[in-house]
Amino acid sequence: MRKTTKSKIKKVTKAVFPVAGMGTRFLPATKAIPKEIMTLVDRPLIQYAIDEARAAGIKEFIFVTARGKSALEDYFDHSPELESALRRAGKDDLLEILRDTNMDSGAIAYVRQNRALGLGHAVWCAKRLIGDEPFAVLLPDDVIAADKPVLQQMIEAYEQTGGNMVAAMEVPMEKTSSYGVLQVTEDMGSILQVGGMVEKPKENPPSNLAVIGRYILTPQILQNLSRMRQGAGGEIQLTDAIAEEAKTPGGVFGFRFRGTRYDCGSKAGFLQATVAFGLSRPDLRNEFAAYLHDMIALQKAAQ
Ligand code: G1P
Repeated sequence: MRKTTKSKIKKVTKAVFPVAGMGTRFLPATKAIPKEIMTLVDRPLIQYAIDEARAAGIKEFIFVTARGKSALEDYFDHSPELESALRRAGKDDLLEILRDTNMDSGAIAYVRQNRALGLGHAVWCAKRLIGDEPFAVLLPDDVIAADKPVLQQMIEAYEQTGGNMVAAMEVPMEKTSSYGVLQVTEDMGSILQVGGMVEKPKENPPSNLAVIGRYILTPQILQNLSRMRQGAGGEIQLTDAIAEEAKTPGGVFGFRFRGTRYDCGSKAGFLQATVAFGLSRPDLRNEFAAYLHDMIALQKAAQ
């Protein structure tokens, strides 16, 4: 593994959140609301990604949005009427909950992706706002429950390795065609040296290590994306731009994170996350667990 001295590594303070997708898998709900506003228990999906980024020390939040996503901008804005009504009513607990959703002026930026050309293109749209710095990318569909937030785990690992880093997770071989898949040249436990990457391989996946939606990337990736080559599914793929860097040893690392990932881009994954997060909430746990228990008993009896 190429060891990079800590002093050479620039701090990661910017994160890109690609949220331009139409969310067709959740129609009809997504006809009127952005997928990222759909709620896991009582918080929108996007809030989980923002909290994770904040915990990892991110200071600038860049959203790549599209038409029909204005609810997202409102969500992160102050809501003076609501706040003063709550203040008058003495509802400090609710004011406290709202506080987490307010972003400081200047900490948040929106850029539009005006054509759906793929994830790589979405990230490229943030090029000017990123500048010449390493940056994180978080895909809000991937919600990860972890004791230490996954982006923080990754930043700590990245401070040792430098280069580009992608979150990685073992998946069943037959599921690899749904992911970016890593070709590993050296397995060092939680850190993997990556020699290549393939987006959604239809056959012969190089491993069963799938890329999960957390990335720490160098500005070189934006240069690679500028060439705008179409990849899998005719889209400009982030995976391909990162794979170019994997040709150089020490260019790309995979990171086996500690945590449970939910694919909230699928209905089954969203439901699983709802159950898991519901059960992890002290205010809901007992009632919800008792209900699930009864439901399972009923299902068994009916079989
Ligand atoms: C995207 C990436 C893919 C990655 C996946 C993780 O695919 O292109 O490489 O494995 O996220 O969730 P999507 O699920 O958006 O099609």
